[in-house]
Formats: sequence, structure tokens, C-alpha cells
Amino acid sequence: MFQRDKLRIEGYAVVSDDDCIANADGNMPDSLKNDAEWKFFQAGLDAADVSVLGRRSHDATPNHATRKRLILTRSVRDVVRDGLIVLWNPQTCGILSALDAFDMPVSHLAVAGGRDIFDFFLTGEVRFTAFHLSRVRGVTLRGGTGVFSGVNRGQAAEAILEDAGYQPGPLRVLDEGVDVVSWTPAT
Ligand SMILES: NC(=O)c1ccc[n+]([C@@H]2O[C@H](COP(=O)([O-])OP(=O)(O)OC[C@H]3O[C@@H](n4cnc5c(N)ncnc54)[C@H](OP(=O)(O)O)[C@@H]3O)[C@@H](O)[C@H]2O)c1
Repeated sequence: MFQRDKLRIEGYAVVSDDDCIANADGNMPDSLKNDAEWKFFQAGLDAADVSVLGRRSHDATPNHATRKRLILTRSVRDVVRDGLIVLWNPQTCGILSALDAFDMPVSHLAVAGGRDIFDFFLTGEVRFTAFHLSRVRGVTLRGGTGVFSGVNRGQAAEAILEDAGYQPGPLRVLDEGVDVVSWTPAT
């Protein structure tokens, strides 16, 4: 079994100018989609052993790349394995037991959201070792889903990350009007 503090946990989010990952209908709009950002995100997922998603994001995104997925849901008590998918309820068992359900050692997770899953790894017992915050400039999603729940209470994503003890790396331009900043735990 792998030690919890040895897990590499990288979060990936793409947000609007007002720090939203989805619009007021709860869907990710085309205005947030960008080829260069998609490539960056997919490379992150490819580099990890397992992708981690909330049940709604799992339902919304077909698993074309046949990646192993750890899905957070309150609909199960025990860990349930179904092919590439493991359903996990963190209220009833720890992450290492959930990862044991995969038929291989798992040391690197790519967390793809949504909001409550980003919250979970932001401040919980198992935290991000890096959070990659991509932004598409010029898009606002009034009434949308914030990248963290604090956004929907009026806080900026950067302030939430700082308050949670992360520090920003340099801004990297992915495309015209699209950039990413990688946040890591402050030392
Ligand atoms: N722009 C981006 O970077 C980005 C990233 C991710 C998603 N999205 C978009 O955002 C939308 C969905 O995101 P969302 O935030 O509404 O939903 P989500 O986080 O994908 O899924 C929410 C569900 O996850 C489960 N869940 C959440 N927290 C949990 C916890 N602590 N313990 C156990 N289960 C938990 C619950 O499932 P049950 O109801 O089964 O209990 C909950 O209903 C989609 O349109 C997606 O495309 C965008």
C-alpha cells in the first residue's frame, strides 16, 4: 500500500474572468474551451495514474481515452470497482483504500473537478501538491459554478488559494488570451 503523504495530487481547472468552471446551467460552455489549454490538460491527465472526478463531471465527460477514473459520490458506501471506474465515498473510507481497488500501484492523481472536488483536495487531509489554474480571458459566466465554493461566496480564486497556503508560480501563456498559473504549497 502507498503512503498517503507520498501521493502526487495535481488539480486542473480552466476558469472564466470571474473564476467559474461552468455556466449558470451547470455546464461547461464552449467559450471556456481552447485547443492549447485542452492539450495542456490532457497531458496532465496522461501523466497521472488515475483521473479524479465528481460524479457529475464523470457523467458529463465520456472516457474516450480509457483512463482509470476515481469518482467521488455519496451514492455508495463501500468502494465499488466497475472496469476502469472506482466509485468512492470519502465519508466512509480513506483514499488509500479506494486506490487499492485499482489493479496497480497508484502514486499520481490528476484531479479534474468539479467545484466540490477541488474544495475537497484544497484543504482536506489529502491536499494538492500542485493546482494548475488556467484562465480564458474575456469570458464571464455570471451565476456560474465557481472553481471553489468560496468563489460563489464572493472570494477570488487566487485569494482562496493563498488563504489555503498555496503560492503561485509564474504565469505561462498557452495561447492568445489563455494562460495558466501553477500553485504549490507554500514552503
Ligand atoms: N472548467 C473546468 O475546469 C471544469 C472542471 C470540472 C467540471 N467542469 C464542469 O462543471 C460541471 C460539473 O461540475 P460540478 O461542480 O457541478 O459537479 P462535480 O463536482 O463534477 O460532481 C458533483 C458530485 O460529486 C459528488 N461529490 C462531490 N463532493 C463529494 C464529496 N465530498 N463526497 C462524495 N461525493 C461528492 C456528488 O455526487 P453524487 O450526487 O453522486 O453523490 C456530487 O453531486 C460540468 O458541466 C463539467 O463539465 C468544468
